[in-house]
Amino acid sequence: MDNRPIGFFDSGLGGLTSIPNLFQKLPNERVIYFGDTARTPYGSKAVSTIRQYSMQIADFLVSKDVKMIVIACNTISATCLDELRDKFPDIPILGIISPAARKVAKVCTQENNIGIIATKVTTQSGAYRERIRDFNEELNVFDMATPAFVPLIEEGIIENEIMDLTIRYYMDDFIKNNKIDTLVLGCTHYPIIRKNIEKIYPGLNIINPSYEIINRVRQILENDDALADANNDRENVFYASDLSENFSNMIQKVLETEESNLILKFKNLDL
Ligand code: DGL
Repeated sequence: MDNRPIGFFDSGLGGLTSIPNLFQKLPNERVIYFGDTARTPYGSKAVSTIRQYSMQIADFLVSKDVKMIVIACNTISATCLDELRDKFPDIPILGIISPAARKVAKVCTQENNIGIIATKVTTQSGAYRERIRDFNEELNVFDMATPAFVPLIEEGIIENEIMDLTIRYYMDDFIKNNKIDTLVLGCTHYPIIRKNIEKIYPGLNIINPSYEIINRVRQILENDDALADANNDRENVFYASDLSENFSNMIQKVLETEESNLILKFKNLDL
């Protein structure tokens, strides 16, 4: 048994999409979340910069005595996982890509054509292609960067014609030309537009890495005998490097609660 919190981090708000599933599956667990809202987005930055920022955040989470670190960001998982594990060998560190790739490899698809939509950095890294083929060589994997989704989502332009047109702009040809039948939402913001995608492309099999990673969290905690117990009286704390209105709007939307129920704290890692 271990009642210490789990550290989650993301370049900004997107990693919050993993949290509802954690609270549902593992209600005794507590979270320290760090969103680098001052320096987001990471998805079009140089890999060396993303590494430097990620190391700072992991240092901060370790200083908070977390029992595990979850990289709730595809871009960071695609580029920094090995370096983070090398720097912090004593703490389990989970990336978001392998659990999703494992799930993809298990699903039977009619055409064996898998589409990945993600940031530019994730797409360029080839991490999804490699991981999926590690698990199943038969699958054809196509990826595409869809960078306009994140700023629209952060502005709350979601249940809206502009979002639907942007989805069609990127995805109509991608889905049709490659006969995609399974789509991976390879950026943590994208579960927020899942309903739009399902409405436009009904029948598409959708994989959500933010959801899949929680199954892996549970496995590791069970194996390490590190699940929290029902008497866990610690609190969930959400840090951001910029406590903006967008952050507070998005956290209330994703966690479906009022701001007064949340502990939101500012933390500037540059200081
Ligand atoms: N959270 C990032 C991801 O999952 C997307 C946002 C960003 O570009 O920083 O890739």
